[in-house]
Amino acid sequence: MLKNDQLDQWDRENFFHPSTHLAQHARGESPSRVLKTGSGVFIEDRDGNKMLDAFAGLYCVNVGYGRQEIAEAIADQARELAYYHSYVGHGTEASITLSKMILDRAPGNMSKVYFGLGGSDANETNVKLIWYYNNILDRPEKKKIISRWRGYHGSGLVTGSLTGLDLFHKKFDLPLSNILHTEAPYYFRREDSSQTEDQFVTYCVNALEAQIAHEGADTIAAFIGEPVLGTGGIVPPPAGYWAAIQAVLKKHDILLVVDEVVTGFGRLGTMFGSNHYGIKADIITIAKGLTSAYAPLSGSIISDEVWNVLEQGTDENGPLGHGWTYSAHPIGAAAGVANLKLIDDLNLVVNAGEVGAYLNTSMQQALGDHPNVGEVRGEGMLCAVEFVKDKDNRVFFDAADKIGMQVSATLLAQDKVIARAMPQGDILGFAPPFCLTRQEADIVVAATAKAVKTVLG
Ligand SMILES: Cc1ncc(COP(=O)(O)O)c(C=O)c1O
Repeated sequence: MLKNDQLDQWDRENFFHPSTHLAQHARGESPSRVLKTGSGVFIEDRDGNKMLDAFAGLYCVNVGYGRQEIAEAIADQARELAYYHSYVGHGTEASITLSKMILDRAPGNMSKVYFGLGGSDANETNVKLIWYYNNILDRPEKKKIISRWRGYHGSGLVTGSLTGLDLFHKKFDLPLSNILHTEAPYYFRREDSSQTEDQFVTYCVNALEAQIAHEGADTIAAFIGEPVLGTGGIVPPPAGYWAAIQAVLKKHDILLVVDEVVTGFGRLGTMFGSNHYGIKADIITIAKGLTSAYAPLSGSIISDEVWNVLEQGTDENGPLGHGWTYSAHPIGAAAGVANLKLIDDLNLVVNAGEVGAYLNTSMQQALGDHPNVGEVRGEGMLCAVEFVKDKDNRVFFDAADKIGMQVSATLLAQDKVIARAMPQGDILGFAPPFCLTRQEADIVVAATAKAVKTVLG
């Protein structure tokens, strides 16, 4: 196909990009990149640059690029029946099969799955269902949701409020009232550096207890958290955190929403992050890895206990007034069925655990002793390198120095490896597709060490 030389100009003139510095992009000061094709862990832009995508898009292309099995399933579904809605009991073979496949894999006593399109709308659904649930139980005051600073749960009105990152609140009049934030389980950034991990867990638990006491437990409906903080910095929790938090929630009859948008379907080397940390959820949010992003699809997996109340609600009030035109879209569902099958057939959950551990160990060996690397951390196929100005005194760089962004830009420019400069702090994030090989992990680590040397010496 002839190259369209106007594409760059059309992009800057017409395309409103999400999470972008709009003015710089329109002025042509920031790179515009037009992606064309992909295979395995590599993507290629239209100028023929082949890049190793060590962030799997936005940690979503879990099975890797170019999977014909999923493409064929989507094409077959589009040819047979591109769309029908799922209101008032309608469905397709794909949507019903996928709901069964999800429930077969879900941890704990889960009952049903509601389908949306992305992680944000799934969490939006969760909050509505929780409010409905407490109204049916005649607890109209029990509506507040506690999230964590540095949590990421989307960028809608409610979900942007749940997200605990400044950038997503500033100038948007968020967070909305009724959405509260508690401490992030981020041991490396603890305020009191003399605390042991155990003491820090106790500190987080005490902070949560104090907040619940201050607000009144009868006003708190739910707590939401990712098993491993994702966009907030890729931060695995300290040992014992989830057990201690769950005990508090149970004591106060507060529901637990586990946001597994990043961790669901294998990223930690277990089917769900909840399996990995022994978390028993009332609602689980899924998206990204459900279809490996071959088509938009998300879900809310609902526990038996919550489901029973929802059923009671419709007996009392009639049909549930909640649904999207594209809920359980057949093309997304067909992609989901093919994707989950591929994950099983290629044993990708195990590979994510094994090669992820190798990636983390190798990254630690290559960079752990660097004077400007405060911490190398990760879990499964998630890894992060956090940069500091002064390691001994844990002094962070000035945000204006944009060290994380400099390292990621250098990594791409020097060796065509994509990692993500996480939005808050100088943190380089890695979340490769699960099919990453050890040789590819070696490429990522060597290139990262080289980029760090170029930027920081
Ligand atoms: C944990 C988590 N929840 C929710 C979302 C929001 O998903 P989406 O961008 O599909 O709306 C994300 C997106 O990165 C996420 O990481």
